Amino acid sequence: MSQNGLFLVFEGGDGSGKSSQRDILVERLKARGLDVVPTREPGGTPFAEEIRDLLLRGSMDKMHPKTGLGLFAAARAEHLETLVYPHLAAGRIVISDRFVDSTFAYQGSGEGCSMETIAALHRELCDDAQADLTILLDGPVRTLLERALGRIADTGSLEDRFESADIAFHERKAQCYRDRAAAAPERYLVVDALQSIEAIADQIEAAVLRLIENRRIAAA
Ligand code: TMP
Repeated sequence: MSQNGLFLVFEGGDGSGKSSQRDILVERLKARGLDVVPTREPGGTPFAEEIRDLLLRGSMDKMHPKTGLGLFAAARAEHLETLVYPHLAAGRIVISDRFVDSTFAYQGSGEGCSMETIAALHRELCDDAQADLTILLDGPVRTLLERALGRIADTGSLEDRFESADIAFHERKAQCYRDRAAAAPERYLVVDALQSIEAIADQIEAAVLRLIENRRIAAA
């Protein structure tokens, strides 16, 4: 995205393991002496974290999807302007847990907000910013949801815990991510989320190290 630094993003649905993988990558790059800034969306800065609280406290059902869309875009603008851009300008590697693809997937494909509106908001508020590499953890939705539920409780089938409309919602999001990755393969690394944690981490690290090498980003 910038001449300096590197902007990396992790995306994926519930149970994909993206947050753990982001943490592993951060630790591995730090161990190589690289200057890494972990962050997340919505959030990452004090005010954007306040917006996160508003959005995620309780159920998203409490607000109209358009309200959520505006708040996610506002939090993203704040995050970019006050955290991401300054760190990139200083030559650092910014690694975010989620970015604009989450809005296309959740608010767009998931909740039916207009994709054109999402793209327009991103253009107007967020300079059409793109990650240098988006790492998408992808896999069969039902298996990943079962895995996510397994972490919470070992009881009940998927159908006991989710309405079929919910499963369809997750399927639509997953397909949106896949479509976006397929449309710009040079900017995505799609990783099979069913592999072992170690195998996934190795694959991601190798791709990121190649990118760092190409950009000639040196240890701090
Ligand atoms: P997390 O659980 O990965 O921290 O993500 C927070 C929640 O916010 C998750 O349910 C996905 C949702 N979300 C959106 O709906 N749209 C967005 O643009 C972003 C960044 C997150």
